Amino acid sequence: MTAVNDGRTAICPGTFDPVTLGHQDVFERAATLFERVVVAAAAVSGKNTLFSLAERTELIRLSVAHLDNVEVDSFDGLLVDFCRERGAAAIVKGLRSIDDFQHEQQMAMMNRRMLPEIETVLLMTSPHVQYISSSLVREIWALGGDVSEFVPEPVVEALERKRH
Ligand code: PNS
Repeated sequence: MTAVNDGRTAICPGTFDPVTLGHQDVFERAATLFERVVVAAAAVSGKNTLFSLAERTELIRLSVAHLDNVEVDSFDGLLVDFCRERGAAAIVKGLRSIDDFQHEQQMAMMNRRMLPEIETVLLMTSPHVQYISSSLVREIWALGGDVSEFVPEPVVEALERKRH
């Protein structure tokens, strides 16, 4: 088993159904703070996702292709177990608003209780992408709207393909 907390690796976990420009902003900023960033798509079994795990992972991969120190993976099970396997020092997530805070704080505290070596770092989402959410992207897309302002280009194309 890999040692926990190498002090250099951060995990950016999420459902990413689909990955948005808000997520991409967090990945880019995490990549400047940590030596290595692993974006990890959660399998979320039992939850109905628009994109399969393989599709979500591939769309993230295409969206971080410009970032040398960012890799993409997926996990099934507890996030802390994945962090332990990867020897991560931190979980990095974006914080858009006070509405996000309560849930993020609760998860951060639970995760630290289960794995005391892990820190959760919450990055304030950049204002130009602060309002974006995957669920609203899915809703706008389902109702025939244009989501190209909210998601990376490969996601626009994937959503377009899903329509046909
Ligand atoms: O898409 P989200 O809501 O931002 O991501 C939530 C996610 C995937 C990070 C969270 O649900 C998670 O960590 N799932 C893995 C299972 C787990 O560890 N659950 C306990 C959390 S305290």
